[in-house]
Amino acid sequence: MAIGEELEVSEAQIAVHWREEEYIQPPPRFVGQANAHDPAILDRFREENFPECFREYADLLSWDRYWHTTLDSSEPPFWKWFVGGRLNACYNCVDRHLETRANQAALIWVPEPEGELTQTITYRELYRRVNEFAALLRDFCGLKAGDRITLHMPMVPELPVAMLACARLGVIHSEVFGGFSGAACGERIADSQSRFLVTIDGYYRNGDLVDHKVKADEAMARAASLGQEVDKVLVFRRHAGEYASATPMVEGRDVFVDDVIGEYRRAVVPPTSMPAEAPLFLMYTSGTTGRPKGAQHSTGGYLAYVAGTSKYYQDIHPDDTYWCMADIGWITGHSYIVYGPLALGTTTVLYEGVPTYPDPGRPWRIAERLGVTIFHTAPTSIRMLRKLGPDEPAKYDYRFKHMTTVGEPIEPDVWRWYHTSVGKGEAVIVDTWWQTETGGFLGSTLPGLQGMKPGSCGPAALGIYPVIFDEERKVVEPGSGKAGNICIRNPWPGIMQTIWGQPERFVEVYYRKYCNDLKSKDWHDWPYFAGDGALQAADGYFRILGRVDDVINVAGHRLGTKELESAAITVNEVAEAAAVPVIDAMRGKAVEMYISLKPGFKPSAELEAKVVKAIEVEIGKIARPTNVWIVSDMPKTRSGKIMRRVIAGISNFTDVGDITTLANPEVVEQIKHHVQSEKLSRGQLPRELSAQEEADIQAFGKAE
Ligand code: WTA
Repeated sequence: MAIGEELEVSEAQIAVHWREEEYIQPPPRFVGQANAHDPAILDRFREENFPECFREYADLLSWDRYWHTTLDSSEPPFWKWFVGGRLNACYNCVDRHLETRANQAALIWVPEPEGELTQTITYRELYRRVNEFAALLRDFCGLKAGDRITLHMPMVPELPVAMLACARLGVIHSEVFGGFSGAACGERIADSQSRFLVTIDGYYRNGDLVDHKVKADEAMARAASLGQEVDKVLVFRRHAGEYASATPMVEGRDVFVDDVIGEYRRAVVPPTSMPAEAPLFLMYTSGTTGRPKGAQHSTGGYLAYVAGTSKYYQDIHPDDTYWCMADIGWITGHSYIVYGPLALGTTTVLYEGVPTYPDPGRPWRIAERLGVTIFHTAPTSIRMLRKLGPDEPAKYDYRFKHMTTVGEPIEPDVWRWYHTSVGKGEAVIVDTWWQTETGGFLGSTLPGLQGMKPGSCGPAALGIYPVIFDEERKVVEPGSGKAGNICIRNPWPGIMQTIWGQPERFVEVYYRKYCNDLKSKDWHDWPYFAGDGALQAADGYFRILGRVDDVINVAGHRLGTKELESAAITVNEVAEAAAVPVIDAMRGKAVEMYISLKPGFKPSAELEAKVVKAIEVEIGKIARPTNVWIVSDMPKTRSGKIMRRVIAGISNFTDVGDITTLANPEVVEQIKHHVQSEKLSRGQLPRELSAQEEADIQAFGKAE
C-alpha cells in the first residue's frame, strides 16, 4: 500500500516537470511528394471504420484468393485477419515486381571493409537466388510448409535471400540476431523445434573477421541438451571458397551452401499459396522468465501491416533508396528492411558492419555514394555518431527526405542534432514506437500531415486506439500528461498471433492484466498491454517512458532481467543474482548485476569476471554488464522477493524509495555505501537525470 501511494505522488510530480517542446512542421518539399498528404486518410482510419479500414493495407498486396472476413475476433485474444484469403509473402516481395522493375536494385549490400565492392542485387537476380535457395531447402533438406528453420545470420544478403526462400515455401523462419551467443541460438532452435540451422563462417565487425561458425557448434550442443536434434547445418561462406572459421566442419552434418547450391541453378520453385493466418516467422524476444518467447507473426496480416506502414510512415516510393541501419536479426529489420520495403518494390540497403567503422563519417559516405533518400536508425547510433563526429554529416553530399528513429526514447537534444546536422534541416523525422510483438508501428506522426515534437513519438498510428491505465486498472485521463501503462484497445493486423507453443503465456503476459473478463468474446474487453510506461499530452501526442516490466532496453536491445540472472547463477559460487538498469549516456541504459554468494565463498575480481563471462556465453556480448557488485545480502521483502527497484536506485544515485517494508532494511545503507563509493572511484560519476530518465528508472519493475 505505502509503495503504491508513493508512486502515485511521484507520477503526478513527474507530470509537472515535463517541458513541452515546440512543433516542427514537415518541409513543403516533403509534403508535396508524401504518400499520405490528404488528411482524409485520418478519417478513413477513425474508430467507427474499424476493422474495415485495414482493407486499404491489405489491398497493397497481391492475393491468390481474396479474403471474406477482415477480422475474426471470435476467440480473443487470438485474432485472425483477412480470413479466407491466400497469398505468398515471397511472391509479394519479389515475383510481382519482375514485370515492371526486374532490373531495379532490390538490395544493395555494403560490406564493412571499405575496399570491398558494394553488391547490387536486382529484383531479377533476387528472384533467381531466392528460387535456388528455396529449391535447396525443399529438395536437399526436405522442408515443407509449416516446418521451422533457424537462421543465425549477420547482415549479409544471404539472410534476406534465406528468409524469402522460406516464405516462398511457407517454411517458418526464426532468425536469431547474429550477436547472440551459440547457447542462446541453441535455446531458440530447441524452442522452435528446428531441424536445420543456416549460418555463415564469419563476418566483419569493427574491422575484424569474426568467427561465427564456432557458435553453431555451441548451439548444437545446447539444442541437443534440450532434446532437439539438428539434421543439417547449412554454412554460407563470407568469401566464396575460403573458410574463415577455426572450427572444423562436422562430417554428415555441416554443409557449405556454395558446394550444393550449384545443383539448383535455374530452379524455379512455385510460391506456395498460404492461408493469410499461416505463420510467416518467429522472432524471439525477452520476457519475464528465462525461457525465450517466440513471437509468431502471420503471413497476411503482418505483411499488409508492414506494407501499409512502410508506405505511409516510411513514405517509401519504388524509386527511393531506403536505408535502415538496424540489424535484420531484430524485428525492425524484418519489418522495415526486408518485408515492408520489398513489398513496395523499392531499393533497400543492407550494411554489414558498425556505423562508426572505420570512422564516424562512414554512414554519410554510404548515403552520398548510394543516393540514400530515406534513413532509419536508433537513438544509440545517433548519440554515438554525434559524439564521435558531430560535424561529419556536413562534409558529405547527400540529401535525406525522411529519417526515422526507433527502439528507445530519444532525448530532444539528440533529436535536434539528428534533425539539423544529419537531416540538414530538410528531412522530416518520424519517432516510431512499437515492439517485436506488434509487427509494425504503434505510435508515430504521419510525416506529411502531422508536426514533429522532439521527444514524443506522436499520436497513435492509423487504426491504433491506445489507452493509458494506472496500476489499479483505472483509465488515466487522456491528454492529462499523467504517466501510466499504455495499452492498445483494439486488435490490428500486425499484432503477433501467439507465443510459439505457449498460448497461455501469450494471454498471461499481454492481456490478463487489463482484460475485463477472460471469458469475453468481445475484443473491446481485451486491451493489449505493451509493458511500457507512457503519458499523453493535451495534443494527443504520446511520450514513451520505458519498460514497466523487468526488461532492460540496452542500446535498443531488449534484455530480460530473468535471463541475465539465470546466466549469472550458472556460476557455481553464486547464490542469488539481480539485474538492474543504469542510465547510460550512450546506450540509453546499461546493465548492472548484483550478486550474493553461497556460504563459504569470498568476493573477488575473478568471480566478477566469471559472472560477466557466463552472461556472454548464455546470451551474448551485447548483454555484458557494466559492473558486477558482490554484496553480502540483497534487499528483500518479507516474502523473500528481491527489491530490484531499491538497488536500481542505488546504482543510479537516485532515491531508493520507501524501504520500511523490507525484511532487511539495514543492508540498503551498506550496499549503497559500497557501490556508490566504488562507482565514484571508478570514475562513474553521477549526473542529474532528466525527467524522462528519472521516470524510466522509477518505472522499472513496477508491473512485477
Ligand atoms: C522501446 C523495437 C521510446 C519500448 C521496435 C518498447 C521505444 C521496446 C520506441 C520494444 C520509441 C521502441 N520511443 N521507446 N520510439 N520504440 N521503444 O521489441 O520500450 O526490440 O517496448 O522492438 O523498445 O523493443 P523491441
